[in-house]
Amino acid sequence: MAKCCWLPWLIIILLPLPPCDGSSGADVDPTAGFAAVELTGDMFKLHKPYDLPPEQRYEFRDGVRRMWVLCSDRPFSPGSTTKPRSEILLNKTYTSGVWQFEAYGYVPSGTTGVSILQAFGASGRNTTLMLHVYGGRLMYYHDEARVVDGDIYDRWFRLNVVHDVAGVGKLAVFVDGERRLAVAGHGGYRHYFKFGVYVQRDPSHYMESRWRDVKVYTKIVD
Ligand SMILES: *[C@@H]1O[C@H](CO)[C@@H](O)[C@H](O)[C@H]1NC(C)=O
Ligand SMILES: *[C@@H]1O[C@H](CO)[C@@H](O)[C@H](O)[C@H]1NC(C)=O
Repeated sequence: MAKCCWLPWLIIILLPLPPCDGSSGADVDPTAGFAAVELTGDMFKLHKPYDLPPEQRYEFRDGVRRMWVLCSDRPFSPGSTTKPRSEILLNKTYTSGVWQFEAYGYVPSGTTGVSILQAFGASGRNTTLMLHVYGGRLMYYHDEARVVDGDIYDRWFRLNVVHDVAGVGKLAVFVDGERRLAVAGHGGYRHYFKFGVYVQRDPSHYMESRWRDVKVYTKIVD
């Protein structure tokens, strides 16, 4: 190696390597600078197959909300062409500012081809963010290049989703306090979070997720 090349290499070796793409990195509590919003029981709206009573697809026991669905189930309303779900719409809508969903989630192994979290409300009645599970990986929609966790099955994980509404929106996803994703949103005006199970691609017959300590925060503006 020519002399002129040593110094840059030395510097690169000696410096701790920062993440190149800004999409990962640990560090601060994602809720720092945020205030919890009061959530009341009536804000948790269950969407489940329209022909079934809630208790056949939902259970709330010892602080844990458990939702499950079969790929052969009916949609949440008779006229809907959407896929089956057992999902809670957290009816705390927001239209501006910076908001955050936090919960501890659990996905039993075998559950695949399903969305477990949505930030709803984009241009054209769409989502601004979805987190899907495929074969134990948690990812941004079905985007193989944006896996937010490689091994999500059979453990409680802390999930934080931060949504900065301004412009098209910006979203960040933290798993166990570590930032795993930063993406632009899809615009839109009224937003809210949904969690549970909502069928996507190549689903397993049975899908389930569990949730506890569900919170919504909003950023403190000084
Ligand atoms: C959500 O709450 C608002 C009132 O804050 C109410 O008008 C609306 O119907 C609720 N939506 C659902 C899906 O329950
Ligand atoms: C929702 O977003 C998806 C993916 O970005 C897009 O393919 C679809 O056309 C959108 N649907 C509507 C109703 O805007």
